[in-house]
Amino acid sequence: MSELRLKVIGTHAPCAQIRALTLAAEDGDPLPGYSAGAHIRVKLPDASDRHYSLINWIAEPGATSAPATYRLGVRLEEDSKGGSRHMHSLREGDIVTVAPPKNDFALHDSPAPALLIAGGIGVTPIISMAAELKAKGRPFAFHYCGRSRGLMAFTDELEELCEEALTVHSDDEPDTCVDLKALVGGASADSHIYVCGPRGMIEAVREIAHARGFAKDHVHFELFDTPEATTGDQSFEVEISSTGQVFTVPPDKSIIEVLEAEGVDLVYDCQRGDCGICQTAVLEGVPDHRDVILTDEERAANDVMQICVSRAKSARLVLDL
Ligand code: FES
Repeated sequence: MSELRLKVIGTHAPCAQIRALTLAAEDGDPLPGYSAGAHIRVKLPDASDRHYSLINWIAEPGATSAPATYRLGVRLEEDSKGGSRHMHSLREGDIVTVAPPKNDFALHDSPAPALLIAGGIGVTPIISMAAELKAKGRPFAFHYCGRSRGLMAFTDELEELCEEALTVHSDDEPDTCVDLKALVGGASADSHIYVCGPRGMIEAVREIAHARGFAKDHVHFELFDTPEATTGDQSFEVEISSTGQVFTVPPDKSIIEVLEAEGVDLVYDCQRGDCGICQTAVLEGVPDHRDVILTDEERAANDVMQICVSRAKSARLVLDL
């Protein structure tokens, strides 16, 4: 499906640092449908793009099959390199170009209870999940976590949508602090767990769920931050096994960025380390894993890596490309 030209028809600030945007087709036509957990990629002025989850509040069957609008929630990143700053600068009437909706974080079609866990602006896809589960009459519990209630968007609307299924956990209200062990431990064995938020939250939920015996395909996650260069990152070399070519990956670039610039054909999607599409076999060398997909055992085996975010502990990696 080709790109869409959308007009900004509404903006508001549900709380400090977060801007809610409503977009409609420039020609007024209905928009392509989507399911809960889907995102669109918005093109930025520098030709890069950013992933934003679609928010649906309407708990009715078919609410997102040919919607009139797409709704987004964007947090202004303090060290934004352009993405969130650009999104916060948009005004009514501005036009944005987006790729049609795609869903890498879909709800499992199961009558089993859903445990929804959102951290910060990771709430956006989870809102749509709550609306879809409610529309289908399926059981769910929604735990929304943040540092401070004043910085958590959409709490009033969520209380209305979810009623007693919602629990808000705020770090600055000690009585409400989230206990992930208790949450995951208290979920029934057949539950599906959905978590969207920062890396630490996803890793903690996955670890606890694994320890409690949840099957891997019952734990669904999407990362809501973009990888940053870590202080102390070093350059390293990557050798392509099929051609013997060797490239240097500097501290501020990913393996994908370097290889793609050199014309190597690669398959990837999220570029955050949560979809697994770029996973590549490692023939020699030791990766520095920075994804949220591999288990501790898989990381220790060092035989595969996500080349969008992971780096190297050794001077050279030989990749099966
Ligand atoms: S592109 Fe998604 S994990 Fe690398």
